[in-house]
Amino acid sequence: MSTLKAVRGTRDLLPPETELWNFVEETARRVFARYNFGEIRTPVFEDTQLFARGVGEETDIVSKEMYTWEDRARAQSEKAQSLTLRPENTAGVVRAYIEHKLGETGLLQKLYYIGPQFRRERPQKGRYRQFYQIGAEVIGPPSAGSESPLRDAEVLEMLATLLDELGITGWHLEINSVGSAMDRPRYVAALREALGPVKHLMCEDNQRRAETNPLRVLDSKDPGDQEIIDKLPKIADFLDESSKAHFAAVCAALNACGVPYTVNPRLVRGLDYYTRTTFEFTHGGLGAQNALLGGGRYDGLSEIIGGPKAPGIGFAMGEDRLILTLEAQAAARTNLADAYVAPMGEGLNPAALKLARELRRAGLRVELGDGGFRLKKSFEMGNKLARKIVLFGEDEQQSGILTVKDFASGEQVKVPRADIVPVLRK
Ligand code: HAM
Repeated sequence: MSTLKAVRGTRDLLPPETELWNFVEETARRVFARYNFGEIRTPVFEDTQLFARGVGEETDIVSKEMYTWEDRARAQSEKAQSLTLRPENTAGVVRAYIEHKLGETGLLQKLYYIGPQFRRERPQKGRYRQFYQIGAEVIGPPSAGSESPLRDAEVLEMLATLLDELGITGWHLEINSVGSAMDRPRYVAALREALGPVKHLMCEDNQRRAETNPLRVLDSKDPGDQEIIDKLPKIADFLDESSKAHFAAVCAALNACGVPYTVNPRLVRGLDYYTRTTFEFTHGGLGAQNALLGGGRYDGLSEIIGGPKAPGIGFAMGEDRLILTLEAQAAARTNLADAYVAPMGEGLNPAALKLARELRRAGLRVELGDGGFRLKKSFEMGNKLARKIVLFGEDEQQSGILTVKDFASGEQVKVPRADIVPVLRK
């Protein structure tokens, strides 16, 4: 008899890796609590109609990636119900918001979830058929302030904080506005018109998308089609005044709290419910599947699935991809030297060599910089080569007290030269 294995695109998570999963989930819960979010758990399967209407019939998720089956009818007179394993959690949260009349509280609902999602995609690194999302949604009646751009900025600031607390370095935030439900049809019509004469030059997938869902052409990664895509009309030129003002207010609030971002006019995302702000946090270390998380505003979703007006914004992070990033970072860090000695001025080079010699003789792995480097360059080099940097300037030479900074924690301490070896070894 052949041995049975986990189904393609699914996998077992075993110790010690599960410790990292627990660390990520505990950190997320702690950060969400500080922003006053509460946990929601919705069923793993729902009525297929929820996703067909909410996420959109024409999206890749609904048209080809869902695990759907006909449930057995309870009685002969009944029709079998079509059920689907959830491919994402936003539609389920909004259904629960409607079903439990959470809007009647008159308050914003701030809900987070952690759990498995299912999409029948082609498995590869960072892409699975059962994967895990950590997500959150802010949703409520307009009278509770659910349409305010401050909500968008607050969610983005929370995400920047969460990634920093998880120790993810080198993330990149891209944002865009896809406009209101009114702006979108005008833009889609302009895209169709622009694609008309050129679509036959594009790859097969894009030819199909140009017909069925032209917005999807924008996030195509096909290298041969990029020149055409770059010349297509930009959604920013089709936004009405209130969507423009909303986007400007989100950007202003991000600038005010120092969250770095870039505007990517092609970021339309793969789900139909988005309005106004869309965003993605990417990470270079992930390869082709570089989106750590994605999200945006969905001001009309509640009405689409039969509920009251309930604008909202949220995101979902791929927990599998977060773990991959953390593991890659940890592996990179084990190849690092213990310390980078940075002389601050060429005159200090000989004394810095003496310090490096002492440290190396004490058994530490040490990189020696050069006093000709500016401080910023010393930090950049140090961060690539070592876990800690030791600043060696005139002050340090005279006082015998060295400044040591730990790149992972950002902590900076002053240490007498006689005590430095155990500090660097930590
Ligand atoms: P999404 O972009 O489809 O958005 O998925 C969010 C994240 O889930 C992605 O950025 C990625 O990290 C992860 N992910 C998606 N598919 C896979 C897969 N097959 N394997 C591993 N990871 C995957 C949504 O799901 C929206 N519900 C997000 C949202 C919440 N928008 C508003 N509120």
